[in-house]
Amino acid sequence: MSKTIQGIRGMNDALPIATKDAPLPSTAWLYFDGVVRDWLAAYGYNQIRTPIVESTALFVRGVGEHTDIVEKEMYAFEDSLNGEQLVLRPEGTAGCVRACIEHGLLYNQTQRLWYTGPMFRHERPQKGRYRQFHQVGVEAFGFETPDADAEMIVMLADLWQRLGLTDLALELNTLGDAAERAAHREALIAYLEQHADILDEDGKRRLYTNPLRVLDTKNPALQVMAEGAPKLADFLGEASRAHFDGVKAYLDSVGITYSINHRLVRGLDYYNRTVFEWTTTKLGAQATVAAGGRYDGLVEQLGGKPCPGVGFAIGIERLILLLEAEGVAMPADAPDAYLVHQGEAADRAAFALARQLRAAGLKVVLHAGGGSFKSQFKKADASGARFAVVIGDAEVEARTANLKRLVGEGGGEQITVPLAELAARIRA
Ligand code: HAM
Repeated sequence: MSKTIQGIRGMNDALPIATKDAPLPSTAWLYFDGVVRDWLAAYGYNQIRTPIVESTALFVRGVGEHTDIVEKEMYAFEDSLNGEQLVLRPEGTAGCVRACIEHGLLYNQTQRLWYTGPMFRHERPQKGRYRQFHQVGVEAFGFETPDADAEMIVMLADLWQRLGLTDLALELNTLGDAAERAAHREALIAYLEQHADILDEDGKRRLYTNPLRVLDTKNPALQVMAEGAPKLADFLGEASRAHFDGVKAYLDSVGITYSINHRLVRGLDYYNRTVFEWTTTKLGAQATVAAGGRYDGLVEQLGGKPCPGVGFAIGIERLILLLEAEGVAMPADAPDAYLVHQGEAADRAAFALARQLRAAGLKVVLHAGGGSFKSQFKKADASGARFAVVIGDAEVEARTANLKRLVGEGGGEQITVPLAELAARIRA
């Protein structure tokens, strides 16, 4: 036997049932998908689907040349046929903006869009952090007032409620506008230069390229120094402050609590004004389940006419881990009936009957591969179906089937039903 080929590190399979190596079962994904569809529809968002492969330049320009994502985490490659520089998308916002510009969706109109799919970052894999992970993202274009920022946050609070999640806290910050950030940046660099001797390697590297990120350090020795650094809040002008107050007022008005975190700067460069993260205490270091903010300059930066944007993305793996950590019941999509049959005539009749029942809107698994009634019933039980429909040659003759309830009240009961009434009986 030849050696088996393994999946790629940090890229996971989702199986029908959770295993040690594949802990996030597809049933949980489907449950989450279903809730998310209804939730997005409730807010009037429309889906956009963009390719997984984009040009490298999109993220260098969009996410930022000096971000971790672009500097060290992108799956970048050259198209061997035409030499194009390509990447597997590390996030969804830049591609969404690119598509909107390319197809004229932002011209004199507003858009409320959502997307879902795999994203790729070459990070060190651990629980809640993968190299292929999945997001549901939402982007709204053409809205410059704080009600749009607040809607993003409220939407997520609503989703947590729909999913039955409680262990999520909101952190909020404002990054001001470009001029305010430039003034702050200058003061910050001056401050960091005074402390250059204690900066770690990451800090030194970022001092002039991305000094804000130096404040986001996980290094305890630097956190004290970061505490004393000039605060962006002190550089905000009237308009930025009013915008942030507006966002907070909307949140207060519907009773959403938050904490202001001045150190929240996010790992992508396109943000201005509002940024936020929803975090949990249940997932260890990978605590951020959803994150986003405003990005009023991105459309123009990617070659479009100026158009404000605001959005967020949910990390689906982390969300599912949290559903499990909080013990949320996720009903599986079980079949209505498992069709058990034996005998040549019954075999044919069951084959046709399964199609009829499905056409009548039922979810039906037709037993395949023969075997005794006993072994077929075992499979019926394992399938989670509510009923077993049993057909032997006698039933074919009588144009009936035996209907046996497998789960719930009255489990084990068996009745004989005319074929013409079968679908209605199962549904009832
Ligand atoms: P992000 O903070 O980079 O933002 O990612 C959003 C979420 O994706 C994170 O909060 C986390 O839940 C999940 N995530 C990120 N990296 C990984 C990973 N390696 N493994 C598992 N989950 C991960 C963005 O991507 C922005 N595009 C969000 C946005 C949309 N801002 C405005 N619009």
